[in-house]
Amino acid sequence: MQLKYLPLQLTVKNMATTQHLVILMLTTTLLLVNSEPQVPCYFIFGDSLMDNGNNNRLHTQAKVNFPPYGIDFPDGPTGRFTNGRNAADVIAQLLGFDKFIPPFATAKGSEMLTGVNYASGAAGIRAETSEHIGARISMDNQIKNHWVTILRLSYLIGKGSIVETKKYLQKCIYTVGIGNNDYINNYFLPKYYNTSSVYTPEQYAEALVEQHSRQLQDLYKSGARMFGIFAAGYSGCTPGMMAEFGMNSCVEEVNSAVKLFNSRLNTALNYLNNRLVDAKFIFLESSLEYPNDINVTDTPCCGGSSTSSKGQCVPNQVPCSNRQNYYFWDAFHPTERINVIAGTKAYEKLTSFDAFATIGLSKDNVTGYISDA
Ligand SMILES: *[C@@H]1O[C@H](CO)[C@@H](O)[C@H](O)[C@H]1NC(C)=O
Ligand SMILES: *[C@@H]1O[C@H](CO)[C@@H](O)[C@H](O)[C@H]1NC(C)=O
Ligand SMILES: *[C@@H]1O[C@H](CO)[C@@H](O)[C@H](O)[C@H]1NC(C)=O
Repeated sequence: MQLKYLPLQLTVKNMATTQHLVILMLTTTLLLVNSEPQVPCYFIFGDSLMDNGNNNRLHTQAKVNFPPYGIDFPDGPTGRFTNGRNAADVIAQLLGFDKFIPPFATAKGSEMLTGVNYASGAAGIRAETSEHIGARISMDNQIKNHWVTILRLSYLIGKGSIVETKKYLQKCIYTVGIGNNDYINNYFLPKYYNTSSVYTPEQYAEALVEQHSRQLQDLYKSGARMFGIFAAGYSGCTPGMMAEFGMNSCVEEVNSAVKLFNSRLNTALNYLNNRLVDAKFIFLESSLEYPNDINVTDTPCCGGSSTSSKGQCVPNQVPCSNRQNYYFWDAFHPTERINVIAGTKAYEKLTSFDAFATIGLSKDNVTGYISDA
């Protein structure tokens, strides 16, 4: 068992308008292409839900740069843990970038000016999380990689000055989506990890949030000011976790532990908002409403019984053809369809940063939609 992440709560609510939003969103995306992005840069931290290729060269089972992953992505399999775009890709498009944000593993030179994606499948807030799976870039190491980027950027834009470079970073959006593996590949895996005998769920949530909030303060020190922080997913509802617990419905024990984490994280972000000058942290909740034609929510598109023991698609396996109807792509990761919905919701929240006020975005008062003014 392996890679398990899901940022999205399975609240089966049929919301007629969601389908509308997706269609509108596609229109908006087209409108934004070829115009200036709404912010100069976007930096991405997280786990497999956000990874776009950072694990490809690592010695780990947590990599997916083979078909059928990427079957709906223009470049095919890239290391994204889904059939098409992930939520960070969707956010980047909605921000108006005409290219996806490059992975740290391959980003070169001026490519880094628009931001870098540091996310790594299997990564956690805690350093030891997922070590039984192999190499991964923990949150602390993603932050170190960001410092490497800052040094390089300082020669591109800051005339060698870190102070100048930090001024640039203040205009960038940062999203962080991490914590899923600290449950799936740590707390709920007593075979490999002893955290569940050391901490109660409350204590563990507290310890995780404390560590995460130190990490966010480190990013603040490096210049970041605009943060979108994803809640952890209710991974008890993933087909992989349900199978592991031998259940055919959501594993409440897992979800209630995750809930403790999310509520403490929300509180911690409020505290940081009050304490850190000029910073704004937006909590990106994982509750989700989705259209009722997404009607396969307990079986992965690639798999069911044929997913590998790791919960991944088997290389070259033929996935389901009606991917639009599926919530899960593999046993732990959502389909692109779900990522578009989640990314769109996150983007809408991010537009409350002051930076957006200065670039003439207007909200359509009929559709509620945001577009270039
Ligand atoms: C838990 O494991 C860590 C190493 O991962 C070890 O340092 C610690 O002593 C262990 N704690 C208990 C209570 O077993
Ligand atoms: C899901 O909905 C599609 C139509 O949108 C339908 O063709 C399909 O049979 C449905 N599947 C299930 C399992 O209900
Ligand atoms: C929407 O805004 C326009 C002005 O931009 C206004 O004329 C119109 O009445 C508004 N419609 C609604 C439904 O509020």
